[in-house]
Amino acid sequence: MATDMIKIAGVSKVYDTTQRGRHVALGDISIDIAEGQFVSILGPSGCGKSTLLYILGGFVEATTGQVLVNGQKVTGPGPDRGPVFQEFALFPWKTVLGNVMYGPLQQGLSKEAATARARELLVLVHLQNYEGFYPKELSGGMKQRVALARTLAYGPKILLMDEPFGALDAYTRTRLQNELLDIWGRDRKTVMFVTHSVEEAVFLSDRVFVMTKSPGHIRKVFDIDLPRPRVRAELLLDRRYQDYVIAIERLMDEQIEEIA
Ligand SMILES: Nc1ncnc2c1ncn2[C@@H]1O[C@H](COP(=O)(O)OP(=O)(O)OP(=O)(O)O)[C@@H](O)[C@H]1O
Ligand SMILES: [Mg+2]
Repeated sequence: MATDMIKIAGVSKVYDTTQRGRHVALGDISIDIAEGQFVSILGPSGCGKSTLLYILGGFVEATTGQVLVNGQKVTGPGPDRGPVFQEFALFPWKTVLGNVMYGPLQQGLSKEAATARARELLVLVHLQNYEGFYPKELSGGMKQRVALARTLAYGPKILLMDEPFGALDAYTRTRLQNELLDIWGRDRKTVMFVTHSVEEAVFLSDRVFVMTKSPGHIRKVFDIDLPRPRVRAELLLDRRYQDYVIAIERLMDEQIEEIA
């Protein structure tokens, strides 16, 4: 059996805040994720989803517990874990190509090799005709594609994605979901994907973790047993897909009623 690539063991986070004193942002989280799995996390606003991804990324330190990646304790950011966060803006002074080349150059590739790598990725995210554009000249969906390509350029084994498609219109969002699945299907990166959309989570994932309200802990895990490659038009008609969406929505509604 494949060993777990990511082991989150008893992780919690307490922030010292000016407004609320010590605030428990994340309850006690223990999750194991196998290599190549696509995992989504759903939960009410403020339950600690972003905090959990930041801890995995090594940007925030856990208050208790630890995260192991391939048996190694996470103590800071590393090239094995690539963040795709909404607020991680592109470099505005660099072109699309410049943004995507940045990682490979940092890793010591020659200019020629970095350019070739970046161009390959721009084809993958359908932006090959935009390499000379600056971020401000791009639409939201294009920027998100550049951000994805920039992260992929490092060659991370794990993608940490925090509502990467949240700000996009429904059409672009669907397209990017398909592109992400295509990319994932090629080299099966391990993905941790935070979203507020139940349908997005079910469509993309092997497993969906539903968190409780703040301080979040795992309420329920759904194993999404749907065939791949997944075709949206087929899934929408698939009773099993509908059942997953309904079951997860029900569970999340229960939590909202508890808060009210
Ligand atoms: N740097 C920080 N300092 C203090 N408190 C913080 C900090 N970051 C987050 N929090 C608090 O921790 C809790 C969890 O925040 P987090 O951003 O992880 O939630 P979330 O589940 O990602 O929410 P959303 O769905 O709205 O993005 C919130 O109550 C938030 O106010
Ligand atoms: Mg968040």
